[in-house]
Amino acid sequence: MKDVKLDDIVSLAKRRGFIYQGSEVYGGLSGTWDYGPLGVALKRNILQLWWKLFVEDRDDMYGVDAAILMNQKVWQASGHTDTFTDPLVECSNCHSRFRADKIDTSKCPTCGQKGTFGEARQFNMMFRTTVGPVEDDRVEAIKAFLNNQVTEEQLQEWVANTPNRVYLRPETAQGIFTNYKNVVDSFYPDMPFGMAQQGKAFRNEISPRDFVFRSREFEQMEIEYFVHPDQWEEAFEQWRKNVWEWCRALGLPQDMVHELEVKGDDLAHYSKRTIDFEFDFPIGREELLGLAYRTDFDLGNIQRVSGKNMEYRPKDGGAPFVPHVIEPSFGLERALMAVLTAAYTEDELNGEKRVYLKLPKHLAPVKCAVSPLLKNKPELAAKAREVYAALKKELGNVMWDDNGNIGKRYRRQDEIGTPYCVTIDFQTLEDNTVTVRDRDTAEQKRVAIAHLFATIS
Ligand code: GAP
Repeated sequence: MKDVKLDDIVSLAKRRGFIYQGSEVYGGLSGTWDYGPLGVALKRNILQLWWKLFVEDRDDMYGVDAAILMNQKVWQASGHTDTFTDPLVECSNCHSRFRADKIDTSKCPTCGQKGTFGEARQFNMMFRTTVGPVEDDRVEAIKAFLNNQVTEEQLQEWVANTPNRVYLRPETAQGIFTNYKNVVDSFYPDMPFGMAQQGKAFRNEISPRDFVFRSREFEQMEIEYFVHPDQWEEAFEQWRKNVWEWCRALGLPQDMVHELEVKGDDLAHYSKRTIDFEFDFPIGREELLGLAYRTDFDLGNIQRVSGKNMEYRPKDGGAPFVPHVIEPSFGLERALMAVLTAAYTEDELNGEKRVYLKLPKHLAPVKCAVSPLLKNKPELAAKAREVYAALKKELGNVMWDDNGNIGKRYRRQDEIGTPYCVTIDFQTLEDNTVTVRDRDTAEQKRVAIAHLFATIS
């Protein structure tokens, strides 16, 4: 395992404008994170890479972007209202709450008292809210309970089944399943084919922890790949390879990624087979993403609850069938945390400790930085602005940096993972060449401005 501490990553992420605590100015909101300029750029680069690899570069994939708020029947049919739970325990002494399967319940981790936890109760992790003005109805229902007109169970049932109930989606997958029929009707794709979606998901985690690793609001990148039931094993193996390809594209060292075959009770309620891809995070080996065989569980449930036919009619006139599904499910924050872990590097340069992010070029938030050697020489600054504008037009995220001496600028750029620093000096004014300094080797070479784009892109 790489010797990187979570604190080093958290502090770099905050100091350099990647990730801040959510609502920090008001004391924060646990399990939420805000992304600063560099964090947004890194996140977008990961999202784009995924979309290109799994949607744009293929002929068998269809992208969708479904609403986050969905009819509550979606979550009843999918089993989430009943089974999307974690075991919750509460300390009778200090009232701290924990996920029972994540702690040693013989002793409270907060107050240290022994034997203060009772039976675990199942806590549903979906955030609930209501659509439209129903607060008055809720007040009436609570009044009825207080006046002993309804029992607590009846009140709870009413709260759970109120017609205006909606949930913040705990997975993006259901927005794909509910659009499966729409896409089949509009495009009549050949089987097998996949549908892909990126977007926010929400889980009311009992103990959000470890930076962005376990958040209450996060982003998923999910694929539902529809196959004939006889072909699920072949498709599963293919997606297993595709997942490894994704890890390579993120620049994750192969020996830091591990497959875990999920067994028995640990399988999600919808899965017949799951491989968790784990990564050696600074917090230990933990799940990075999952690959699951969801059978026809979801389309079968939609067919049963909605009464709409989910069968696919083969183009060769074969018998119609409800497709089975292979689901590679990727978490954006965990991908980002793995990328930062793999990239975080400390070395010594000219006798000084250096911290830098050895990010793959295609993920670096800033593609290159441009500087005049001396800030107060107008002729250098003017030429540097010219080079900066030309590169920005081609590469987008190019940074202007003329603060401090050149050594400090290099260090600043190294720390945020900028692969190249371009410096305009007096020789530039004579022969139209600049120096290009490489982040990883710290070597500099002279390059003609005409060849600059080709050198650094
Ligand atoms: N549709 C299947 C599904 O949602 P999951 O294993 O519950 O499966 C998929 O979630 C991925 O979403 C995980 O592998 C992880 O990368 C990410 N994820 C899940 N819960 C998360 C959380 N609380 N915070 C950050 N990422 C999370």
